[in-house]
Amino acid sequence: MSDFDSIKVLHHEWAEYELLDSGNRLKLERFKDYVVIRSEPKAWWRPRLPESAWKSADARYFDEDKKNAGWQFFSKGKPFPVMDYKGIKFRTKLMEGSKHLGIFPEQQPHWDFVERAGADGKKLLNLFGYTGAASLIAAKAGYAVTHVDASTPSNAWARQNQELSGLSQKPIRWITDDALKFANREVRRGETYDAILLDPPAFGRGPKNELWKLEKMLPELMQACAALLSKKSGSYAIATLYSIDASAIMAKNVFEDYFKNGLAECGELALPSKASYPLPLSIWARFVRA
Ligand SMILES: C[S@@+](CC[C@H](N)C(=O)[O-])C[C@H]1O[C@@H](n2cnc3c(N)ncnc32)[C@H](O)[C@@H]1O
Repeated sequence: MSDFDSIKVLHHEWAEYELLDSGNRLKLERFKDYVVIRSEPKAWWRPRLPESAWKSADARYFDEDKKNAGWQFFSKGKPFPVMDYKGIKFRTKLMEGSKHLGIFPEQQPHWDFVERAGADGKKLLNLFGYTGAASLIAAKAGYAVTHVDASTPSNAWARQNQELSGLSQKPIRWITDDALKFANREVRRGETYDAILLDPPAFGRGPKNELWKLEKMLPELMQACAALLSKKSGSYAIATLYSIDASAIMAKNVFEDYFKNGLAECGELALPSKASYPLPLSIWARFVRA
């Protein structure tokens, strides 16, 4: 198989979420019964649905003018829904200054991979874990989960999702820390994990203002993750990158630099749409130990 045969496009299948249309650097989406318009720098084409469909949205996030970015509501008082994926509940809501609603539906193929890989007490590390979607999927599947995020509100939201999902008794360590610092500390402690997920943003800050810059710091994080990944056959690492500057091949090359004795693959995560083009949102690379 050549390098280029291994680039795969993974797309989600989740009835509660739908990409209705996209274009003009916007996307029209349905979260259960709540329809939103959000900016989408990757939607370079023209929308396909008539204006009336876009006008039926319940809310819109404006950020064309960065200084005045914010939400506008057309259905006042309509609550944001609690989403359900295979019994796991995700509360959608707004966080000040953010267009995100607490869930990235395009990540669903990764959730299914984690579930399919089988757990039985295996240890999973979720770095940059946000509101805990992958952590909860993993905990339900039987992993002992270590979830790391720099943001106290994100971790509180993740715990709320854990309770809503009836998974309070599952072994999840919720850690507020800088992902790179935490990973390096775990290496020094001689810890290992059977599965590692990481979704590093292009730019971020740790809780003590530690700087995270993807293009400068990804190799160091990869080195730490390679040291943390168990030597057992079937152990795996998955990275997701939303940075518009990165390509799937770049991510795979970095994986192959550090992870040895196994198969590295890469591709894109894309949302399908009945009316419009598929919307590619992030790239991914995955390594599975032989
Ligand atoms: C794109 S979100 C991850 C989305 C998540 N994987 C999901 O699918 O729901 C990026 C997360 O990285 C966190 N973050 C940013 N800089 C960080 C750092 N230096 N250390 C740890 N977490 C960080 C943010 O708080 C945010 O929750």
